[in-house]
Amino acid sequence: MKDRYLDFVNSPFGASVARSIGLPQPEVLRRQAQGRAEFGGIAAIGAGPSPTLFEPLITLLTSLGMTTVAHESALVSWLPVAAKHGAMSGRFEPRSPGAPPNDRVQALIFDATGITDSTQLHALYGFFHDAIRSVAKSGRIVVLGLPPQFCASPRAWTAQRSLEGMTRSLGKEARGGISSNLLQIEPGADIEGTLRFLLSPRSAYVSGQVVHVDATPATQPTDWNQPLAGKRALVTGAARGIGAAIAQVLADRGAHVIGLDVPQAQDALDQTMLALEDAWPSQGAHTAIVADIAAPDAPATIAAALLAVGGIDIVVHNAGITRDKTIAKMTEAAWDSVIDVNLSAQERIDDLLLDQNVLHAGGRIIGVSSISGIAGNLGQTNYATSKAGVIGRVQSMAEPLRARGITINAVAPGFIETQMTARIPLGLREAGRRMNSMSQGGQPVDVAETIAWLASPASAGITGNVVRVCGQSLIGA
Ligand SMILES: NC(=O)c1ccc[n+]([C@@H]2O[C@H](COP(=O)([O-])OP(=O)(O)OC[C@H]3O[C@@H](n4cnc5c(N)ncnc54)[C@H](O)[C@@H]3O)[C@@H](O)[C@H]2O)c1
Repeated sequence: MKDRYLDFVNSPFGASVARSIGLPQPEVLRRQAQGRAEFGGIAAIGAGPSPTLFEPLITLLTSLGMTTVAHESALVSWLPVAAKHGAMSGRFEPRSPGAPPNDRVQALIFDATGITDSTQLHALYGFFHDAIRSVAKSGRIVVLGLPPQFCASPRAWTAQRSLEGMTRSLGKEARGGISSNLLQIEPGADIEGTLRFLLSPRSAYVSGQVVHVDATPATQPTDWNQPLAGKRALVTGAARGIGAAIAQVLADRGAHVIGLDVPQAQDALDQTMLALEDAWPSQGAHTAIVADIAAPDAPATIAAALLAVGGIDIVVHNAGITRDKTIAKMTEAAWDSVIDVNLSAQERIDDLLLDQNVLHAGGRIIGVSSISGIAGNLGQTNYATSKAGVIGRVQSMAEPLRARGITINAVAPGFIETQMTARIPLGLREAGRRMNSMSQGGQPVDVAETIAWLASPASAGITGNVVRVCGQSLIGA
């Protein structure tokens, strides 16, 4: 659905009207587009004492074609590391107010992994105070820290936990489509895939998030544009909306997609699958499964169809329904159907796919939750219960699946522009769109790109996470 206000405030006339009467001025977010470089520009580096991630950082930034400048908090340790890797680097000069925008940096990256005491948090103040005005529109802020539970002392734990408040506040202050996220990185973890995602336009609507990366060895794709090459992915609810976008992005990233939807949506499903074939003819035909996931025989039907193509590497549980009413007015059928489609059906399907090894070792399960599942929502007791359950699945299954190298994560979309949200009454719809740091709704592709990152072989160290794709919504924050 079109956001007319976003178009209006990004016209010369609309921008001046919005400025003069103090209306929100959402930025048109920079998203990944064919023919446009994914990475580039300058990254400004800051650090607390004893940063630990400069080596992987310089290797990655160099391979992405980004140049670096070091803030005084990082200068002494960054420049020798950059020189060792043959990378040009210089000193970060704070942007003076009113300076032209062409001196702006694309990313601010702060290595906080060596911070062990709250007094050392001052380094964050120094860096971001000096640098925040230098970030380009749709730029990126990434803070690198440790999982607090990995800290040797209560003071270190406390200081590392503090980073969440800092990172989230930066996301609210930065505006201009700039995102701010925190990585909690276990010592030895491979962060390349995750940093690539967070620095890329692919993470346009992901902000205010804390992602835990564990030390499970990850496989680097031979081609970062096709990280899912050779993988087969099941996407439920693929006929339209977010599911169709997931199918498109996974195919674009190299996967063979098996799209599933209900019989009533068969025409739309066929169109989605044919569109994949037209867009990526070298991949051949993608597969469609017509089934109601809540039907008693659905797990067996799906397992048989997947076994027929040789099993599966990625399962995306996207199909979902709403039947909104306050609890007093809600029918029993509305309660039962939402819990069954959005949660119980997924449990039954996963159980069989795992029991019969239809999902390969090293596989990926990704659930689609919702910020309603985090915050609760008026008129959505059934939906919020089911979506909170999706989070419970991630939390309860991450450890048992670890031995098989299978990760399980969820995305929790906020307000995404789809047929589902187009049905929301105008006033509520406008509130949903604007009540986030980006002052706009997300696009289905934003959810899809986040899923593609979690599905990648490079994301082996990410399990048990729930990543909101909500532009840092105020709801449930
Ligand atoms: N749109 C949003 O803002 C938003 C926000 C948070 C979460 N979500 C979640 O994202 C997912 C996709 O949402 P959407 O907006 O694209 O919805 P949508 O209604 O446009 O699409 C859902 C798809 O799932 C299919 N489906 C429904 N029940 C099914 C069943 N029993 N078996 C197989 N397929 C079934 C539908 O036919 C449809 O194609 C849902 O899980 C939804 O709860 C959406």
